[in-house]
Amino acid sequence: MSTRKLYVKSFGCQMNVYDSHRMADTLAPAGFTEIAQPAGADLIVLNTCNIREKAAEKIYSELGRLRVLKEEAQAKGRRVLIAVAGCVAQAEGEEIVRRAPAVDIVVGSQNYHQLPVLLSRAEQGEQIVDTEFPLDDRFATMPGARREATRARGISAFVTVQEGCDKFCTFCVVPYTRGVETSRPVEQIAREVERLADAGVREITLIGQNVNAYHGEGPDGREWPLGKLMYRLAEIAGIARLRYTTSHPLDLEPSLIDAHRDLPALMPYVHLPVQSGNDRILAAMNRRHTRAQYLAAIDRLRAARSDLAFTSDFIVGFPGETEAEFGDTVSLVEDVGFAAAYSFMYSPRPGTPAAEMTEQVPEDVKSERLQRLQAVINRELARYNAQFLGRTVEILLEKPGKLAGQLVGRTPYLQAVQVMAPAARIGEVVPATITEIGRYTLFGALATPETEPQQLAIAGA
Ligand code: SAH
Ligand code: SF4
Ligand code: F3S
Repeated sequence: MSTRKLYVKSFGCQMNVYDSHRMADTLAPAGFTEIAQPAGADLIVLNTCNIREKAAEKIYSELGRLRVLKEEAQAKGRRVLIAVAGCVAQAEGEEIVRRAPAVDIVVGSQNYHQLPVLLSRAEQGEQIVDTEFPLDDRFATMPGARREATRARGISAFVTVQEGCDKFCTFCVVPYTRGVETSRPVEQIAREVERLADAGVREITLIGQNVNAYHGEGPDGREWPLGKLMYRLAEIAGIARLRYTTSHPLDLEPSLIDAHRDLPALMPYVHLPVQSGNDRILAAMNRRHTRAQYLAAIDRLRAARSDLAFTSDFIVGFPGETEAEFGDTVSLVEDVGFAAAYSFMYSPRPGTPAAEMTEQVPEDVKSERLQRLQAVINRELARYNAQFLGRTVEILLEKPGKLAGQLVGRTPYLQAVQVMAPAARIGEVVPATITEIGRYTLFGALATPETEPQQLAIAGA
């Protein structure tokens, strides 16, 4: 079989990245090898994100550039096919080929396992839009390659355990682009993790749009919550670290809290988006919890494991947000003491209830609030990291660093640490003493093997 070149570009969240890898895996048996740039590719896949307007619009400018590349190749007698996958494909379907006729295939977020078939149809000259949600259960019927890793790509790997969302926050497209909430069976996940461990993976991050809503079928025929799944996966030989993302404050069930207390492999890090610190805005967002309930959730987790690091997502300028209501978000950031946080200006998304709300906040107000919030977040981040200076922490050595002889490791709290160490040690969990705090990374020195990592007393505030 002739080898063909594939270029896949991800624009979205971890699930989107995971799906990109699975698309490459699905196409490998058809003779495709991946390359790192679009020039020279026979098939170009843009795996799109629809979460904010900017992310979605980026696709069209990218498609403009690719059309030129396609025409140049054609002039030289070489055929290039362009596919648009992911959440913009799911949301816009036909509209994409109308706006960008150079696109050959539009494939929705649940249909990409069909890519080899769609591709051969496109090669016959057909322009394809396949965005139907399959009626059957997404996980039960998948033939393996669709959503399971067929090979490892390094020391740390994502594994999808849950997909879709039934929460319908009023600002969010995900329930529409990813469909209803579904969980994978426990043993199917365990087998994928075992395979990855055999291939050298040491860290698994379980991913889902609403990962702690997980309720997959267990080997006993009952529904297992995420915490119980963690106990099962922690038994798998070779897996040193378990992580999960993204969680919703409403779905914090007791087994997950227990798992944080009991399982050393479960890393002390929780990404728990709150979006706003104000109760009226939280209600208008349909988040279905209050500020006090969010803070109580943090307290419950910290009671189980005092050194937990928390991160979050925030939206500023949700319709109707007043200056005082924004102030509640700022004070929440200060109250919790997040290790890091993402913050965004509210972006109205077609088809979502908040886009129809009348009191849209002007762009300049949103932008100014974002700057102020980010200043507070950065201050908290610096304060969080500063506690580590001089301490010894266990890091998982993941990959080569920027300088020769340097490796990048991660602390349990997900901070990157640059250390001098030979490449042969990639994959090891080793104690490192933090010697310098940079803005985006920490610097450390491998501690002597005798040095025990100190138990960190990290309370966020
Ligand atoms: N499932 C996760 C987040 C999914 S989207 C959750 O429940 O929180 C990732 C982040 O994008 C969200 O947490 C939110 O902060 C942001 N986001 C989602 N829709 C947005 C919009 N319309 N405008 C701005 N930010 C948005
Ligand atoms: Fe979107 Fe809300 Fe679901 Fe998160 S919980 S994916 S923000 S609808
Ligand atoms: Fe974006 Fe879809 Fe993920 S909208 S954030 S790629 S679920």
